[in-house]
Amino acid sequence: MEVDSDQPVSSFYERAYSLEEHETKDFYSAWAATYDEELIDGRGYAMPVRCRAAFATYVTDRTTPVIDLGCGTGLLGRELAGLGFETIDGIDYSPEMIERARATGIYRELWNADLNDPLDIVDGAYGAVAAMGVFSFGHVNAEALDEMCRIITPGGTLIIGVNEVFVDENTLVPKLERLEADGAISLEVREHGAHMPASGVNGWVFVATRTG
Ligand SMILES: C[S@@+](CC[C@H](N)C(=O)[O-])C[C@H]1O[C@@H](n2cnc3c(N)ncnc32)[C@H](O)[C@@H]1O
Repeated sequence: MEVDSDQPVSSFYERAYSLEEHETKDFYSAWAATYDEELIDGRGYAMPVRCRAAFATYVTDRTTPVIDLGCGTGLLGRELAGLGFETIDGIDYSPEMIERARATGIYRELWNADLNDPLDIVDGAYGAVAAMGVFSFGHVNAEALDEMCRIITPGGTLIIGVNEVFVDENTLVPKLERLEADGAISLEVREHGAHMPASGVNGWVFVATRTG
């Protein structure tokens, strides 16, 4: 796939579900400058508000460090700062996305890493871990949940926002259920609702507590 950053603003989202893994990073780097405009203004992206609501309800300690995995331009960071979270870190593998997130001035630390690889983060470092819009085709695989759970403080919270197209592909929920059966997490919430309303795509918010 050729990525053309001069194409009309509205054309990126339609291609995001058919990316091959090797195309995804460049795709997001090309999209970074117009991502917020297309998704928020153009398509009514609902996950920032839905994940904010999950944080508001399930992560009551606003001083606990949180990490926004696949932070993109920082849409979730802005919501979390609005809730009063004091320490927000972020990871993304697109340098252009990281620069947008950095420009918000909200994140304590931001760095590039591939979320399908082991994370250079100590066990239990974060009271809450968010993965919003990162589990998808050619993006982050369900197996990355092992690492995401490892970096949550025991008793801490995992919040996932994910499009239903990927959930229907049927690796994410089986992996969450396997982690629950193994005693690593307790899956508290499975909430179906809006994802990209203007495009007719719904999505899921999952909330889990690290128990292991
Ligand atoms: C749909 S965007 C979501 C961004 C942000 N969380 C949001 O909801 O607006 C997906 C983001 O995940 C990043 N991403 C995709 N696959 C990744 C991977 N394997 N490792 C790190 N980041 C990845 C992309 O660069 C992009 O910024």
